Amino acid sequence: MFRFAALLALASLIPAFVEAAAPLYGQCGGIGWNGDTTCVSGASCSKLNDYYSQCLPGSATTPSTTTTRTSTSTTTTRTSTGGTGTGTSSAPTSTATPDAGNPFTGYTIYLTPYYADEVKAAANAITDSTQKAKALTVANIPTFTWFDVIAKTPTLGTYLADADAKSKASGQKYLVQIVVYDLPDRDCAALASNGEFSIANNGLANYKTYIDQLVAQIKQYPNVRVVAVIEPDSLANLVTNLNVAKCSGAQAAYKSGVTYAMQQLNAVGVYMYLDAGHAGWLGWPANLTPAAQLFAQLYKDAGSPKFVRGLATNVANYNALSAASPDPITQGNNNYDEIHYINALGPALSSQGFPAHFIVDQGRSGVQNIRSQWGDWCNVKGAGFGTRPTTNTGSSLIDAIVWVKPGGECDGTSNTSAARYDSHCGLSDAAQPAPEAGTWFQAYFETLVKNASPAL
Ligand code: BGC
Repeated sequence: MFRFAALLALASLIPAFVEAAAPLYGQCGGIGWNGDTTCVSGASCSKLNDYYSQCLPGSATTPSTTTTRTSTSTTTTRTSTGGTGTGTSSAPTSTATPDAGNPFTGYTIYLTPYYADEVKAAANAITDSTQKAKALTVANIPTFTWFDVIAKTPTLGTYLADADAKSKASGQKYLVQIVVYDLPDRDCAALASNGEFSIANNGLANYKTYIDQLVAQIKQYPNVRVVAVIEPDSLANLVTNLNVAKCSGAQAAYKSGVTYAMQQLNAVGVYMYLDAGHAGWLGWPANLTPAAQLFAQLYKDAGSPKFVRGLATNVANYNALSAASPDPITQGNNNYDEIHYINALGPALSSQGFPAHFIVDQGRSGVQNIRSQWGDWCNVKGAGFGTRPTTNTGSSLIDAIVWVKPGGECDGTSNTSAARYDSHCGLSDAAQPAPEAGTWFQAYFETLVKNASPAL
């Protein structure tokens, strides 16, 4: 997985903060905001919530009521919701009303046996009884299941059948969470997660077969809801990394692959969130507008599929949804956490005809300020499991806090002679020795357990 490139270069294009007015889609108010409260001509400052007002095109419908800030400690704090195995239970942290179309509402999230087995085996290998007991609770926290090779597609049918049976036995409605992750020339700006299909060798057609195989399974279980994250990193790479030959060469295939996935999965009612990188990638001011344009264009060109609910952020990354204070490595980007990023991106998308909602991965975001650089993404040392999955997100733009990356599965090998060795996995803030991407990394899992915040 690649998370960050050319950002410093792009950041250097950002003018120093001396403007008299905030730019289009820039922040112009909110608790803690000390910058400009007026917008460039053609835009007006609109209050989105207490923490964020934004310059939107045209005249404001709601006048900006920038609140004088008293202390940063008033920013939203998420509370633990406990690992109940469902995405619907928790204590509210805000009075925000979830959107009526939130696909998570009223559903029990299916616990993938594959991850539960990985976790149980890992817990059994821990000798300290307190840590072992904590580790075992992770088996009850729902994560997404990644379909990272075509050979895994039949297992989706097994999970759906199991979820269907559980639903019938309990009377509860079940939801299965998957990651669609097999584009040809995958992970085009990095090496660690290079995939099985290549564009030069029939990759796009193979990808369509992969999608068709997922669709064929899903069709058989109309009573089980499926929520999918579509292709981590792919579109973000098209925003910032077209200077990398493999990415520019993959541009057409990524677009047509993602379009095919949206249309085919829409036809069988799969709720989809396109991967949108994270605050430290597309959240930079220079990247936001091109990102919004790309997502909105693809969505509209695909026919505005009604099950494409929006975007997924922070997948497999480490950013907080709402940071207590900006990590120093985020300097220069006002969107220093996921809530700022989402509050900036959401309206930019809406104004272009994509009324997107969001899900945010917080699986490994329990500990902050652990990276040397914001772009470090590989097995970052000192990480801990984060906020549990919940629909009580505190934001009407965010459908759910989720765990997309199954914590304990590796981001990439640190073996320098491996074909998929990426130098990010050899950095001093990357845990080592690390096995191949996607395989179990016991020492890393144990740290995630130990450092979990809220504690397990
Ligand atoms: C790997 C996949 C794996 C996923 C979830 C990615 O980085 O490339 O193989 O399924 O992480 O662990």
